[in-house]
Amino acid sequence: MALVPQHIAIIMDGNGRWATSRGLPRTEGHRKGAETVTRILEAAQKRDIKYITLYAFSTENWKRPSEEVDTLLNLFRQYLKKDLSELEKKSVRIHFIGDRKRFPQDIQDEMNRLEKITFEHDKYHLILALSYSGRDELKRAVQKLITHVKDGILEPSDISEETIVEMLDTAGIPDPDLMIRTSGEQRISNFLLWQLAYAEMYFSPVYWPDFTAEELDKAIEAYASRDRRFGKIK
Ligand code: FPP
Repeated sequence: MALVPQHIAIIMDGNGRWATSRGLPRTEGHRKGAETVTRILEAAQKRDIKYITLYAFSTENWKRPSEEVDTLLNLFRQYLKKDLSELEKKSVRIHFIGDRKRFPQDIQDEMNRLEKITFEHDKYHLILALSYSGRDELKRAVQKLITHVKDGILEPSDISEETIVEMLDTAGIPDPDLMIRTSGEQRISNFLLWQLAYAEMYFSPVYWPDFTAEELDKAIEAYASRDRRFGKIK
């Protein structure tokens, strides 16, 4: 396949609608959605996509009913302990972005452990956005910058795009080339606000639990046909 994006970021949307359209509780949609995660990560590696970022839980998602939040936390717990430990063996470096302090301690411990043991892997990178929102990330980056200025490490005039990038949760990770959102919604919804500046957008009508490798190929094909100019002219 020609011109494969180096980094794909995905808003995995439509779990709830997938479930309710089948008369099932929303939590079933999340369970099915977790299976899709495994399927799509395998497909992405086969297509040699080096970086994949998945929006799994936003800062706003904490406001959902506690039953749904608990199901999601249990899915993350299970996924981190089992499936991600498998990925560890496949040379995948695992990163977490977002405000992890809001998670129960055992989940935070598992995140720290996985980041530590995969630190030296460089073939593939999986970035999981958990308790993440772009505005919250920017707010935390500004707080870090102000602390550096207060401590005399930086002068306000030293602040450049590069210093801001260093303060983001995604420091060291290249910006996404392609952003995919499933379920037909056409919004960014507070995802990677800084990093998506020049990403190509692809909106799939398919609900996340039904998203397949073939649907991923459609997005990659659409990306390959786009003319990326980054504000310049050819
Ligand atoms: C959005 O669909 C999806 C979420 C808020 C959760 C995403 C979680 C998963 C895909 C499963 C677990 C993930 C991992 C990494 C193990 P929605 O609930 O907003 O759907 P709706 O818009 O149809 O209501």
